[in-house]
Amino acid sequence: MKKFQIIVFISGNGSNLQSLIDKTKESKCPYEINCVVSNNPEAYGLERASINNISSVVLDHNSFKSRSEFDSALEKEIEKMSFDLIVLAGFMRIINKNFIKKYEKKIINLHPSILPKYPGLDTHSKVIENKDKFHGATVHFVDEGLDTGKIIGFSKFKTKEINSYDSLLAKTHEIEHKLLPKICSLIALGKVIFKNEEVFINGKFYKKGKEFIF
Ligand code: GAR
Repeated sequence: MKKFQIIVFISGNGSNLQSLIDKTKESKCPYEINCVVSNNPEAYGLERASINNISSVVLDHNSFKSRSEFDSALEKEIEKMSFDLIVLAGFMRIINKNFIKKYEKKIINLHPSILPKYPGLDTHSKVIENKDKFHGATVHFVDEGLDTGKIIGFSKFKTKEINSYDSLLAKTHEIEHKLLPKICSLIALGKVIFKNEEVFINGKFYKKGKEFIF
């Protein structure tokens, strides 16, 4: 039987892409990655894809005259592919509304905060500024808003013993690398479903998304 197919969108280092790739090396992994898409030709994630024989597509947003030209080129590329899910893993471009509508409930995003706290950029600095006791990462379905789609799950940690921006970032990455492959696997296994416009995991509804403890 054909495995569940994922396309991963990246813009940079791709450490989360790597965590998704690493999971595919486990015999029971229910998904495979059929393509990596990057808007940045220098993204190290492209190297990771190549090392692992995963095809990639580069659409350098700087080489397009306008945002809408980039958006339609992206749409054309994706139309050619067969896939079950798009995973935004550090993709630092806002996705066009038509694209989101077209692939409704088929795009998820990884975000470095405990949503709905801190949508957008600079989440780690905000955690430091506000002296938050917890920080974490969330995976949600993408809708037309900025990091506002239905939350699937999140993972959090105490910030108490973490005393620098870099260590906060590192700890966030550490949990992201577990959270994202876990949620992709659950989706691939058909365990994450929409019912009455709400997300259910293993048949259970979680008002704020399911907390994953690693
Ligand atoms: C991750 O921390 C991800 O949560 C964040 O970018 C990083 C990418 O790291 N995404 C966003 O900020 C999206 N708004 P990676 O390239 O090493 O996977």
